[in-house]
Amino acid sequence: MTSAPEVPDLPVVLLSHRGPVSFGRDESGRRTSSRGAGGLVTALTGLASDLPDAVWVCAASSEEDAAVAAEHDGQAVEVTLDSEPRLVEEGDAAEGAPTIRLRLVEVDQQAHDDFYTVIANPLLWFLQHGMYGLALAPVLTRREHAAWDDGYAAVNQVFADAVVEEVRARGGRALVMLHDYHFYLVGREVRERCPEALLSFFLHIPMPGPDAWRILPPAWREAVLNGLLGNDVVAFHTEGFARNFLLCAQELLGLPVDLEAMTVQVGDRQVAARHYPISIDVAAIRQLAASDEVAEHADALIEAFCREDRQLILRVDRTDPSKNIVRGFEAFATLLEDHPELAGKVSFLALLQPSRQDVPEYADYLTEIGGAVARVNAAHGGEGWEPVDLRLVDDLALAVAAYTVCDVLMVNALADGMNLVAKESVVVNRRDSVLALSENTGAHQELGAFAVTLHPFDIQQQADALHEALTMDRGLRRARREAAARVVEENDIAKWLEAQLADLGVVREAGR
Ligand code: ADP
Ligand code: F6P
Repeated sequence: MTSAPEVPDLPVVLLSHRGPVSFGRDESGRRTSSRGAGGLVTALTGLASDLPDAVWVCAASSEEDAAVAAEHDGQAVEVTLDSEPRLVEEGDAAEGAPTIRLRLVEVDQQAHDDFYTVIANPLLWFLQHGMYGLALAPVLTRREHAAWDDGYAAVNQVFADAVVEEVRARGGRALVMLHDYHFYLVGREVRERCPEALLSFFLHIPMPGPDAWRILPPAWREAVLNGLLGNDVVAFHTEGFARNFLLCAQELLGLPVDLEAMTVQVGDRQVAARHYPISIDVAAIRQLAASDEVAEHADALIEAFCREDRQLILRVDRTDPSKNIVRGFEAFATLLEDHPELAGKVSFLALLQPSRQDVPEYADYLTEIGGAVARVNAAHGGEGWEPVDLRLVDDLALAVAAYTVCDVLMVNALADGMNLVAKESVVVNRRDSVLALSENTGAHQELGAFAVTLHPFDIQQQADALHEALTMDRGLRRARREAAARVVEENDIAKWLEAQLADLGVVREAGR
């Protein structure tokens, strides 16, 4: 972090479904820990290490998480917030790593399955990323209605209870920061039971307009909006998402909104809709990029993909259908068809983290990914050259090493609230890489001017754009990457936090 960050003059209670660390057991029965998946954890880990008095409430997402919680009577435990997070037991040293109190909340398995694998994913995720082919999906049956009541609503209640407990344990006055689409109903509940708390909600995924929300039955969409309106500030990545929220309050709840002031009147309260593009901890990822572990990976990648004048196209993603991975490979195949001279000269490395495999649509998509790679390699591979190298891994050090040595980073998402992979790659790359970036990502608003823009449904355009990137003048590549890196450096995760705290009016200089 650059200057001493400004911090809230209130204790902070953070809530997200996915936490910074999850525990397990290895073959020998030893307890292990792994970093939480996705951009939310990346961002909040950068943020939380700057909060002097905070507790992070999240789901116990493994049996071992539940065991850790039980060992501490359901109370918060201390964990480190570095690239290898771990439990800090009584008398243990954190060895200089930032730490935070973590409250792991255990939830009934059936209720959690309904909450996470029916309502949150795929229903809300697909709705908010515009991924439903409405002619045939979704179909809301008795099953989904039960999943809403006994899953989504019931689990939101459990987490609201935990947040209320943490706020009351801090005297009733705290800044409550609620995160993402899993917890739309919590804000209203906490407001009613902790009237002195300050409540902010941040949505990490796209916020569509009223028409998209009409996919949900009126009772559900009104519960989502009224839940959000329990907060003082409802925040998004982009101004467009904030405006969509106000249009939903106006059209679906009939509330008076002010699109100038970006507010909505709820009885005698005024709720603000704001936008703050999320970012990363630039210093932390550069520190990781300078590590021996990353250097070793980078040497191996250069040996495999970048010898002589060979070039490397890279993608790093969860295996989420919204990331548009299959079309990415089809665009690469089109590039090889259009430019046979590239055979053996360009490779595509895909570092993909299997995601939400307990959701059928996600399990099917992983199969589709494997099929697409097999087709490209069968059609274009030969003489010891495999065009696509697919690795199903959850390995941040390898991902960062690949960022440092790639020539082109491909981000062709159908829709993406932000996309932190794009921001991570430009601040650590050492080969003047070109960002090939979908126009439907939040990141495109900040980095689009320095990228080759991709239209996510047009694989011919993506193939042409990849060729433009691979043949771009070196000087232009360097100027664009450096400009993009400056945007991320000047708008890092500290800036994201400070902007929110300033609007909430709870800022003081760290250490004052
Ligand atoms: P999302 O939040 O939808 O997953 P983002 O691009 O915003 O998308 O954030 C993804 C985060 O997960 C990044 O911090 C990235 O480094 C990490 N990540 C994605 N894929 C992998 C992978 N295969 N191995 C390690 N980390 C990964
Ligand atoms: O970053 C957006 C997000 O939806 C987060 O809420 C979530 O933690 C992340 O993607 C990864 O998804 P999941 O927690 O379902 O694996």
